[in-house]
Amino acid sequence: MAGRIPQSFIDELIARADIVEIIGARISLKKAGREYKACCPFHSEKTPSFWVSPDKQFYHCFGCGAHGTALGFLMEYEKLSFVEAVEDLAQRAGLELPREARDAHNSGGGADLHQVMSQSAQFFAQNLSDNARALAYVDKRGIEPGTARKFALGYATDSWNALLNRFGSQEADRQRLLLAGLIIERERRGNEREGGCYDRFRDRIMFPIRDSRGRVIAFGGRILDQGEPKYLNSPETPLFHKGRELYGLYEARQAHADFKRLMIVEGYMDVVRLHQAGITYAVATLGTATTQEHLNKIFRLTSEVVFCFDGDRAGRQAAWRALDNALPLARDGRELRFLFLPEGQDPDSLVGAEGMAAFEARLNTALPLSEYLVQQLVAQTDLLHADGRAKLAALAKPLFARMPEGVLRELLADRLAAEIRMPAAKLKQLLLSGASSRDTSSPMEPMRRTPERMSAGRRNMLSQAISLVLHHPRAAHAVEDPAALSGLDKPGISVLQTLLEQARESHQPSTATLLERWRDLPEFERLAELAAGAPLVPDADAAGHELSMAVQKLIETLGPGHRTNELLRKAEELGLNSDEKAELSQLLKSRNQPPSQT
Ligand code: GTP
Ligand code: MN
Repeated sequence: MAGRIPQSFIDELIARADIVEIIGARISLKKAGREYKACCPFHSEKTPSFWVSPDKQFYHCFGCGAHGTALGFLMEYEKLSFVEAVEDLAQRAGLELPREARDAHNSGGGADLHQVMSQSAQFFAQNLSDNARALAYVDKRGIEPGTARKFALGYATDSWNALLNRFGSQEADRQRLLLAGLIIERERRGNEREGGCYDRFRDRIMFPIRDSRGRVIAFGGRILDQGEPKYLNSPETPLFHKGRELYGLYEARQAHADFKRLMIVEGYMDVVRLHQAGITYAVATLGTATTQEHLNKIFRLTSEVVFCFDGDRAGRQAAWRALDNALPLARDGRELRFLFLPEGQDPDSLVGAEGMAAFEARLNTALPLSEYLVQQLVAQTDLLHADGRAKLAALAKPLFARMPEGVLRELLADRLAAEIRMPAAKLKQLLLSGASSRDTSSPMEPMRRTPERMSAGRRNMLSQAISLVLHHPRAAHAVEDPAALSGLDKPGISVLQTLLEQARESHQPSTATLLERWRDLPEFERLAELAAGAPLVPDADAAGHELSMAVQKLIETLGPGHRTNELLRKAEELGLNSDEKAELSQLLKSRNQPPSQT
């Protein structure tokens, strides 16, 4: 999430920023109606499909699917972190970062924590050079002294309080060490007055995890020889969110001005040894699945990602999770591939055995995302029979629906069609039925759809309602009571409710301020897609009317009233059995007035 930067401050920044000015200062924009267009800076093209909307304070490329707010643009174009982009906009607007944010990121508590981490890293590094056993271990793992220095490796001694004694003499110091996750508070027993603290990392090789500016924000520690757990990470702290950080990224950026590709591996040791062998574009997640946040961070630096997994079962499971998270980000111009190593090997052992050239040659055998996906689904089905082929289509459908429109998705459809032995066009229709589609041929100009036409598509009522709030946040006030949506049984209904509440609470709601609230959530891509589409109605008044109707319809069709209507209709047409009669009378009793029939 946005760390400790308050949402109201981000709203303020977005409201003050002018996305046209910010993008226009970097690429040349041409006015086209109410919008501006340009050749997309994020993929190569000859005719412009990159649109910037001053109304929505949002940009979208109909070619490659890139989209976002002014903040998002700065992050993608200038390769800034979220906080750096916020700082940039704040400076431009002449606003000070609020204190709580400064504390976490710059000065005050944040600076203190950074200092504690940096001192501790130096302490661990010194321990390593002083400890023959630890040095021998590092050497045994094939790590050269220069590599250990480059990664600032260290050693936490086999002691309960070495770090505590060195840096925790005052109570305030101990509080900082606690907050930084370096020491742990002992549980108090009985009426003991003080439980005391002890070092979190003991007898471990320490891998400092650094942020984009090279500051140590966390540690991973590997036990020497045997012991549980094998690896221990820092806990989540104000400086460290493990779903966001990648080990080795700072070091990789030091080695490259520009990346052709980044490779994601599973372990600390893998990264260190790959870099040592010359493969300096390797990074690792920190014992977690690859998240969309990780991938967004990576795609800001390069358009090609290779996931590299061990050939064992755990590796294959991790690969499938990575694929699942990567699907919504598989836009045109991006390349996502999967490399599986032979059973029993990991990048560390392989690159040690065969060297850089042979390891890099393996990259050519990495499977493209669509190929890997099809392979996995095919393995679960029996393609000799028609119902096996139907099952393949059914398995593919939800995955397909999560991919953005574009060449990659077309390729996947073609591959699946070949397996299922069905014309690709027909399969595509099948795969997309039920999913809402978006009109990519027209840019963000309003389509003058009639309200009748809009209300007709009952199935997409929810998407339409969400789209209306995103395009006309002020229309949210036309909905009497968003809370009435809670409890309705339909995926996504809580997204609508939350958006309505956010739009009503915000002082300066716009498409961009609403979207910024979802930046790190899984729904972000889908919401951004809806925001990029043409508004369903051109003005906020009409939108308010449509929106309140849509919400009412959703409540009617999904709420308890729906069952009542269903039973009444059945009573008229077929008659009810005794259970149904009892249910109906119960339902009618709980309502004051008889429902109107639809
Ligand atoms: P080595 O045995 O040192 O070569 O490590 P490895 O990287 O080959 O180990 P493995 O494949 O078992 O683990 C890969 C990554 O998963 C590690 O780098 C850690 O980030 C994480 N990991 C492994 N074991 C543990 C554990 O016990 N606890 C936690 N939190 N993470 C672990
Ligand atoms: Mn290993």
